[in-house]
Amino acid sequence: LVPILDFGSQYTHLITRRIRSLSVFSLCISGTSPLSTITSLNPKVVILSGGPHSVHADNSPSFADGFVEWAQSNGVFVLGICYGLHLLVQRLGGEVRVGEKQEYGRMEIEVEKSCGILGGKVGDRQVVWMSHGDEAATLPNGFEVVARSQQGAVAAVEDKYRRFFGLQYHPEVTHSPEGMETLRSFLFEVCGVNAGWKMEDVMDEEIKVINNMVGPDDHVICALSGGVDSTVAATLVHKAIGDRLHCVFVDNGLLRYKERERVMETFERDLHLPVTCVDVTEQFLSKLKGVVDPELKRKIIGKEFICNNLGKKPVFFVQGTLYPDVIESCPPPGTGRTHSHTIKSHHNVGGLPKDMKLKLIEPLKLLFKDEVLQLGRILTVPYSFLKRHPFPGPGLAVRVLGDVTEDNALDTLRQVDEIFIQLIKDAGIYDSIWQAFAVFLPVKSVGVQGDQRTHSHVVALRAVTKGLITRSYGSHDWLYLKQFKLEILGRRLLVFYSIDSNMYYFEREFLDDVVQKICNNVRGVNRVALDITSKPPSTIEWE
Ligand code: XMP
Repeated sequence: LVPILDFGSQYTHLITRRIRSLSVFSLCISGTSPLSTITSLNPKVVILSGGPHSVHADNSPSFADGFVEWAQSNGVFVLGICYGLHLLVQRLGGEVRVGEKQEYGRMEIEVEKSCGILGGKVGDRQVVWMSHGDEAATLPNGFEVVARSQQGAVAAVEDKYRRFFGLQYHPEVTHSPEGMETLRSFLFEVCGVNAGWKMEDVMDEEIKVINNMVGPDDHVICALSGGVDSTVAATLVHKAIGDRLHCVFVDNGLLRYKERERVMETFERDLHLPVTCVDVTEQFLSKLKGVVDPELKRKIIGKEFICNNLGKKPVFFVQGTLYPDVIESCPPPGTGRTHSHTIKSHHNVGGLPKDMKLKLIEPLKLLFKDEVLQLGRILTVPYSFLKRHPFPGPGLAVRVLGDVTEDNALDTLRQVDEIFIQLIKDAGIYDSIWQAFAVFLPVKSVGVQGDQRTHSHVVALRAVTKGLITRSYGSHDWLYLKQFKLEILGRRLLVFYSIDSNMYYFEREFLDDVVQKICNNVRGVNRVALDITSKPPSTIEWE
């Protein structure tokens, strides 16, 4: 296990993922965790992440007292990245100061001393991604510079004897093309870590944990949403405890076209899950009648959902919470990131009632989305199911703008969405799109169909891909930075902003076909709009 002490960098989770992709298990923990938390993990290597702070600022976060002494006396390797490097330098008696020239973006660095971490020979150059204002000005005793940037700033350091290492740049981002190789050689050649973390082992381990938790007479309930996470979680728990698991699939009337029949078939026929379908359409729709505020819709749906799923007999409740949800719910220290920054309320973490008597089983809570897909494949969840586009918990309620109970909106939307998605599948482009769907707009427009003037609804179509570099499946990845140059008062600044998703561009003929099929087949629709806004400035869903 390689713990990453998180000091708030937007890249911290990426370090975790990179290390896991090298078949070594890694976890983010708070940078200010007590020493006992770190020592209890018994690590051979600890990585200190970057962060948005300066070590000179009041209340800037730091690792626990005694950390470096413990690392040194236990032969633990420590790698500081960016702010993590500054912390190491400062806490070990060196000096960090504001760099004369701040370094943001792609830079070249040059090896000054051949070493384990960077490899290569003196004079070798590589391009790396820098993002820092402070720099290491004086190194602690025992530290040596192993690479410098073009501007002469320290780019990589090591204290081989005490096993402290530092990189001023971010090896974890793809903009540092040799960064992955650096992490690999650091872990395997410098630290001698053994690779061997496999999804099969994760599955066996989780099954053991579940079996130890759930007694022979205990029953477990799982609410299946029809999404990948709850399905994989339930399949795993079912493998562990068999039919002491009871799954409930709630048809809340906000599902897509024939979704209930389709997912029930997968649950029963392919996965043999013990599942009961509960139809609560009337109850949900009556609560949603007249509600137009998106957040209120979400709250009503969350509340109704929970009331419907908690039975009396079971002792445990399975949730498909993923690692990014857990991390997002515990913002790192000193980052100023709090729950109040939530743009839309998603309800997996923190959404359960406080007085819930059931104990939680969250078998995926240390996994990223792509790892859940891997686990799903091992558990033989059908590929077509795993590859389904994400669908929001509140379902079509956030895709019918305004009151979902008006104007036959839900049925109209289902038909439009089905035509759009089927044509996408027929065109063979479904897997290239991250998410595609239709939206029902609460406006009517004038049209002419046949010989008649019509006054019918407008629907919108939306399809997004992940950012160019963010091809991963994680729900909160900030990997793709867009940059632009800005001149203020004669100073050139590089401004970065993160982009989550981009537009998917369809061929003209494809769109013609979609529009024709929708207007010819769906009563009450005479106009189709295409949403061509990326995120930001829009969000993926319209509500
Ligand atoms: P936004 O609209 O925030 O969506 O750009 C990002 C991703 O989250 C999904 N989404 C939700 N998922 N409950 C969910 O479980 C919600 O309330 C919710 N709102 C948005 C959205 O479909 C997209 O994949």
